[in-house]
Amino acid sequence: MLRYVTTNPGKVREAERYLPDGSVERLDFDYTEVQADELGPIAARGAREAYRHADAPVLVDDAGLFVEGLDGFPGPYSSYVEDTLGVERVHEIAADLDDRRAAFRCVLGYCDGEGFAASPDPVDRGDRDVAAAAGPDEGEDDGDGADGPETDPLPVKLFEGYVPGRIVAPRGDGGFGYDPIFEHDGETFAEMDTDRKNAVSHRGRALEKFAEWYADR
Ligand code: IMP
Repeated sequence: MLRYVTTNPGKVREAERYLPDGSVERLDFDYTEVQADELGPIAARGAREAYRHADAPVLVDDAGLFVEGLDGFPGPYSSYVEDTLGVERVHEIAADLDDRRAAFRCVLGYCDGEGFAASPDPVDRGDRDVAAAAGPDEGEDDGDGADGPETDPLPVKLFEGYVPGRIVAPRGDGGFGYDPIFEHDGETFAEMDTDRKNAVSHRGRALEKFAEWYADR
């Protein structure tokens, strides 16, 4: 049984649409969300921690809103910005920009304690985690006879999903987070019903890739 690690039951319902009946359940575990400037390492760290906690296959996701005219901000800091500035302020800031194009991105991290082939989706081998924990000398000879930096023994397979759009004044009552200010194909995510949003969303795209790969796992 696969554990989708989240405090949000809505994400598990979405995952259930892509995976065989009864193959996924929610694990309500609050893993450490490290600050990083990319989503992949955040999802990978979370997946490792959750796997060590659950001792069973886990799926962790990390998502964010990337505004072109703000060089991708808030990106991996989206949760923090939603909690501090709030979604309406993000719209107000974007309203002054010439370029209001934006994208939601989602990275799923899967860990089951085994190794993976890297292709076509990437594998995070925890080099940065180990390097950060080991300090500035990491990467030099560590005496284990192997070349290069040490890696975490738990590889994590990553799957990324993306949806383009633009930032608009808030519209719609559905969804959550930045949905009211994110317009895709003429509608904000908050104006779409759940099925329509799932059909185009960053998380749906990442789940689609994951489900195809997982079917052969
Ligand atoms: P998380 O990684 O799912 O915790 O999401 C990070 C941030 O992005 C939070 O502020 C979420 O509200 C926001 N976010 C993630 N996915 C979506 C989405 O599908 N719609 C709107 N906001 C989202």
